[in-house]
Amino acid sequence: MSDPYDEDVWPRPVIIIAAVAKNGVIGKDGKIPWKSSWDWQQFKRVTTATHDRRKMNTLIMGRRTFESIGKPLPNRETIVVTRNTGLTIEGCVMAHSFQEAMRLANGETIFICGGAEIYREGMRNVDKFLITRVDLEPEGDTFFPEMPSEFSPTGSHHQRPEDRKDGEPACYIMEYEHLIPGLDT
Ligand SMILES: NC(=O)c1ccc[n+]([C@@H]2O[C@H](COP(=O)([O-])OP(=O)(O)OC[C@H]3O[C@@H](n4cnc5c(N)ncnc54)[C@H](OP(=O)(O)O)[C@@H]3O)[C@@H](O)[C@H]2O)c1
Repeated sequence: MSDPYDEDVWPRPVIIIAAVAKNGVIGKDGKIPWKSSWDWQQFKRVTTATHDRRKMNTLIMGRRTFESIGKPLPNRETIVVTRNTGLTIEGCVMAHSFQEAMRLANGETIFICGGAEIYREGMRNVDKFLITRVDLEPEGDTFFPEMPSEFSPTGSHHQRPEDRKDGEPACYIMEYEHLIPGLDT
């Protein structure tokens, strides 16, 4: 019997994952201008989980986003996109274009983790958006690009009040997928 997660049989999902404030801000001065422990836990849970326990998922991120995180995240393949062909980072795969990052990705699911330029490039081939809506309007210098109009909300995941730490913003996660009219009829 064929492996149901063989790449030839099971095309790998490509998911854009981001936390976005009400005014579209995703970053300021190289950092995310809020802290949400709940959202970070959700990010870890979603990006680590695989159907096949022998596999990991891939995170694709720009060099500046990698620097804001500071280290490769455990149990996930990290691909860092940079134009600097001399740069190597221990524990990461380096790619010199977004297309190269997609070719190098070995993961069961590919998560496109930002920042703005990487999201923009990723939107051409993405299957799903997982967007944490953050109830803030902070100052910022990096914004989430406009989502293609053919994507519609298909689900949501809400934070329980007890999961929100003091001083942290309210958040919920929205899922958006590309619905092809008439496919299910
Ligand atoms: N809220 C969120 O969910 C979220 C998620 C991610 C990031 N962020 C925030 O967003 C900010 C960082 O985003 P950003 O847009 O400034 O930077 P970024 O996309 O993380 O990184 C930009 C860098 O990636 C490389 N790069 C981008 N496109 C490339 C391409 N097509 N080919 C080759 N290399 C490419 C270049 O690296 P080199 O300069 O090395 O050539 C470029 O300077 C930070 O504030 C971060 O905290 C927020």
